Amino acid sequence: MALETALVTRSFAAVEPYGIDVAAYFYDHLLTRNPELRSLFAAHLDEQRDRLWAALRTLVANLEKPQNLQSILEGLGRRHASYGALPEHYPAVGASLLATLEHFAGDSWDSATARAWSALFGVVSATMTGAAAGTSEGGSASAATVA
Ligand code: HEM
Repeated sequence: MALETALVTRSFAAVEPYGIDVAAYFYDHLLTRNPELRSLFAAHLDEQRDRLWAALRTLVANLEKPQNLQSILEGLGRRHASYGALPEHYPAVGASLLATLEHFAGDSWDSATARAWSALFGVVSATMTGAAAGTSEGGSASAATVA
């Protein structure tokens, strides 16, 4: 799978100045539409917002370094198994992430950019859930062709 890193990077540059507001919007979006996920998270989301925002920035910064991406995502995926995150939860997270990015990206968002983020999220989810399942199957960020 080719990752369209230029589209991801350009749109993220438009979103980045909004900082932690992006993570706050994401959690509002996710938990309003999927209230059954609320109990997985701690009562106060402040720290969680900071961590998610830091993780997103790290992911985008490592797009051209698939081996870094792979090990970051495998660690994240294994930790998520202990948080109670299941493979079936990932599509809701992906939908809220895309809606959040679209909300903040303004003119930098178009259908090609949406497809690029969706493809990236596919690799992210498959790598995380593959590591959580303790297998090498599923996604492979280092096997993805970086365009
Ligand atoms: C793109 C996929 C995802 C990313 C980048 C992501 C990112 C993060 C990060 C950075 C943390 C902080 C703790 C750590 O680094 O281990 C975290 C915690 C957490 N995530 Fe995710 N996550 C993703 C998907 C999911 C999914 C699908 C769920 C399931 C609903 C989920 C639920 C949680 C929970 C419950 C915590 C712990 C919160 C707490 O300690 O209260 N995440 N996530």
